Amino acid sequence: MPVLLAPSMLAANFLHLGKEIEMVNESQADLFHIDIMDGHFVPNLTFGFFIIKQIKSMAKKPLDVHLMISNPDQYLEAYKDAGADWLSVHYETCPHLHSSVQRIKKLGMKAGVVINPHNPVSLLRDIIPEADYVLLMSVNPGFGGQKFIEGTYRRLQELSELKEKMNPDLLIEVDGGVDGLNAGKLASAGANILVAGSAVFGAKDPMATIAEIKKQAGS
Ligand code: DX5
Ligand code: ZN
Repeated sequence: MPVLLAPSMLAANFLHLGKEIEMVNESQADLFHIDIMDGHFVPNLTFGFFIIKQIKSMAKKPLDVHLMISNPDQYLEAYKDAGADWLSVHYETCPHLHSSVQRIKKLGMKAGVVINPHNPVSLLRDIIPEADYVLLMSVNPGFGGQKFIEGTYRRLQELSELKEKMNPDLLIEVDGGVDGLNAGKLASAGANILVAGSAVFGAKDPMATIAEIKKQAGS
């Protein structure tokens, strides 16, 4: 399966949001990655439902919504209504993760579980058969433009082994500090979806950069 690319809208220019969405629509990107932060689970705030709805109204590709919020269980339906097609919750925020994943799937979205860089991937063993995807954080969540954590390759390898045993259909997404230089190595280590924010929107030619990251990832 070719590696998918999800540009993170956190790094887009919001003064020209329509143009940025059009660029992603016309590019080789596969998904819109939307980072939701609440100033509580992570020390930053981003978008509410209104912005997600606006993006959805123009997007020609699915919305991959990454919740970095405390108590996401309270809002699963609301994210579906706002336009999420893929919805991921942090392992650290869901005391009843099995049930959260089932609810996301029942609402008709792909269900993802996210894990912070300090947590061992072995924690995910029993949720892997239930989830559609796992998002491996390759930076600490909260901000775009951070440096990629090198230990991610080893974690990716461990997660790929668990995936083979427990759920070969699982997709593995890597998020944070991804660019054209590490995309190839991440794909070889088992990544199926790459999120890239500043590498894409900070580039002189974002559309060409999307094509280049995909090429480096072997897609
Ligand atoms: C970090 C977010 C990431 C971020 C990626 O909390 O989850 O999606 O926007 O941005 P870059 O690619 O700039 O690290
Ligand atoms: Zn993200």
